[in-house]
Amino acid sequence: MSESVDSGASDANKPADQEGGPYRPEPGKPIIEMSKVGKTFFRGKEPVKVLDDLDLTIAEGAFEALMGPSGSGKSTLLNLIAGLDQPTSGLAKIAGNDLGRMSDGELAKFRARHIGFIFQAYNLIPVLTAIENVELPLLLTSLSGAERKKRAQTALRVVGLEDRSSHYPRQLSGGQEQRVAIARAIVNDPTIIVADEPTGDLDRKSADDILALLEKLNVEFKKTILMVTHDPQAAERARITRRLDKGRLAS
Ligand SMILES: Nc1ncnc2c1ncn2[C@@H]1O[C@H](COP(=O)(O)OP(=O)(O)O)[C@@H](O)[C@H]1O
Ligand SMILES: [Mg+2]
Repeated sequence: MSESVDSGASDANKPADQEGGPYRPEPGKPIIEMSKVGKTFFRGKEPVKVLDDLDLTIAEGAFEALMGPSGSGKSTLLNLIAGLDQPTSGLAKIAGNDLGRMSDGELAKFRARHIGFIFQAYNLIPVLTAIENVELPLLLTSLSGAERKKRAQTALRVVGLEDRSSHYPRQLSGGQEQRVAIARAIVNDPTIIVADEPTGDLDRKSADDILALLEKLNVEFKKTILMVTHDPQAAERARITRRLDKGRLAS
């Protein structure tokens, strides 16, 4: 099977970034480089320091788990890596992009090209079918309707749900909903998959299916994966586990 999720297109055929041409994967090289990253929120006038001089390097092709107590800043860190938010201080360089210096528009392009995000609560749109949900990220691209549909079908096939493409979310089990959400996350063939407690709402069996799927995306499709989890069995699937406590990574 091709390494590429988007029905076998090679990296050279991927749309070029605004600057710099197609992204060339380099397994083993740092793809997530965070140096002295700080993030402070304000509650009214009261500053709340959530991340404090955080250093983190993750190599391309890694599958890592991030654990830590509730409120320790795990989701905040994932959001920074995904370009959904920006650091207050320090350097967040993801797939060669200095996210702290990018405009909202540039961040949106960065996310569309590099990031697949998986949420605990799936976040599917209830009035859209499975395949329409998966197709959603492609509506922002210049792909034709036929090509979008083909890619969405490919992504559903990767997660083993091609026979559920016309089902609505409420007609699916929690585990199936999460698989649709994973198909949506991979349909743009992202460089990095970030997952925020992806098995948190699932029973053991469904959770294991999701973990096996993430492992496949890592091993077969060479996706770099960072997964926040409270589940020791989930963390065991990842090859490296990191712990966040009070805004810093424990070594
Ligand atoms: N947008 C925000 N505004 C203010 N405080 C926030 C915001 N996002 C997160 N926080 C605070 O940052 C801390 C860490 O939150 P979070 O990253 O969600 O932790 P975790 O995912 O580890 O449970 C919490 O105290 C939370 O209340
Ligand atoms: Mg969280």
